[in-house]
Amino acid sequence: MKLDDVRADLSAVLFTEEHIETRIGELAAQIDQDYADKSPLLVGILNGAVMVMADLSRALSIHCEMDWMAISSYGSGVASSGVVRILKDMNTSIVDRHVLIVEDIVDTGLTLSYLIENLKSRNPASIEVCAGFRKPEAVRNHVSVKYLGFDIPSDFVVGYGLDYAGRYRNLRGLGILSPKVYS
Ligand code: PRP
Repeated sequence: MKLDDVRADLSAVLFTEEHIETRIGELAAQIDQDYADKSPLLVGILNGAVMVMADLSRALSIHCEMDWMAISSYGSGVASSGVVRILKDMNTSIVDRHVLIVEDIVDTGLTLSYLIENLKSRNPASIEVCAGFRKPEAVRNHVSVKYLGFDIPSDFVVGYGLDYAGRYRNLRGLGILSPKVYS
């Protein structure tokens, strides 16, 4: 789905497909350098991370492996409690592995903070994070994202893996959803 297909639903376009592709390419080049000879294990967090994972992994020149986790936040849908329930764990042992968590967005950063602590207890060689987008609250909470696509405003955004009510994940760019769609 292209931005033009749902342009009427968006109050603004933040990044086009080409813009995102360029940035993901830059992150991949950095990861190529940092993980030369390390064959990292990319751990994608379902569902949102599928697009970043697909594009980032294919932009790498080094070998990598991929695995997936599905998690769900406890608490109301409005505010994250920061305690996550693992719905699907990885199939791979991460002992002595170089783990790179792949996320679509870091919003409050609570999910990621919990996840990093959980994975650290499994004795990996290293853990870093790659995220497509980061909202201001995560910046305020000092959540460490080594490989970041873009800082974005705190608006309700959709596209590139990010959904509203399950839709718009397949939108190729990133846009701010118009309030008329959800109000
Ligand atoms: C999103 C995103 C992160 C989390 C970030 O997942 O993929 O996992 O929220 O939020 P936080 O920084 O405030 O903790 P979501 O629960 O929407 O599931 P989804 O990926 O399946 O859409």
